[in-house]
Amino acid sequence: MPSTLKNKVIIVTGAASGIGRSAALRLASHGAHIVLADVDEAQGHRVCADIQQAGGSAIFVAVNVAQEENVRDMVRMTIDRFGRLDGAFNNAGIEQSNIPLHEIDTGHWHRLIGINLTGVFLCMKYQIPAMLAGGGGSIVNTASSLGQVAIPGSAEYIAAKHGVIGLTRAAAVDYARMNIRVNALLPGVTQTPMLDRGPVSLEAVEMVEHVKAAIPMGRVGSADEVAQGAVWLLSDASSYVTGSLLPVDGGYLTV
Ligand SMILES: NC(=O)c1ccc[n+]([C@@H]2O[C@H](COP(=O)([O-])OP(=O)(O)OC[C@H]3O[C@@H](n4cnc5c(N)ncnc54)[C@H](O)[C@@H]3O)[C@@H](O)[C@H]2O)c1
Repeated sequence: MPSTLKNKVIIVTGAASGIGRSAALRLASHGAHIVLADVDEAQGHRVCADIQQAGGSAIFVAVNVAQEENVRDMVRMTIDRFGRLDGAFNNAGIEQSNIPLHEIDTGHWHRLIGINLTGVFLCMKYQIPAMLAGGGGSIVNTASSLGQVAIPGSAEYIAAKHGVIGLTRAAAVDYARMNIRVNALLPGVTQTPMLDRGPVSLEAVEMVEHVKAAIPMGRVGSADEVAQGAVWLLSDASSYVTGSLLPVDGGYLTV
């Protein structure tokens, strides 16, 4: 499988941390050229240097995925630098505020939807023409277990992640005959800085513990375990897979 990634040009958003960082490192180790995209410039440059020091190929682009011009420029810079676009891992996201729906600040609602849902739309809007020009490609959008089920105190996040799944399915059927595959990765509870930032209230702490206790495998996943699902979907090893939802969650969604 890894050899099918050699020399592919792949954009990874949210590449400065967590699941995106792990995916970028893995993809680069398989010989892909990586465009690391993130709002966190310091950390993004660090990941870029790590890849280059290990002999891999990467550039960093400062991008806010909620800003259309940033996303357009990200794709333009990819084509300018590498001449094509073969894959995209649209993974940047922020966490929920862990409060009941009626207490959610409307500004926070718009901010989260802007990054977690509109950001995925904008990425695909600009990536797809570049892929069509190159004869095809593979897109993986990061949703969540919470794109399929609900837990208390997460309405804005759940709405966005359900939306990512809908958008993924829609794009999969729109481009299935044009050699662009579009799939969703559904991480369960994953050990990343997002999880470390943690819930803000006692009720939310209890909820996270409740969710962790419900994982059939009895542990949270690592960023690298989750990233490997994206690596497979981006590779030609998954050439007949489109419109699918890949849970990487220790069995959480099966119970
Ligand atoms: N960690 C989990 O338990 C978990 C579970 C399910 C789904 N997810 C999803 O996985 C994805 C990655 O999360 P993670 O756990 O690795 O989190 P993380 O916080 O470690 O990494 C997220 C990255 O996204 C970047 N980012 C945030 N807003 C951005 C923006 N507007 N534009 C560009 N980059 C931006 C951050 O700077 C950060 O580098 C997210 O979409 C998240 O919702 C995480």
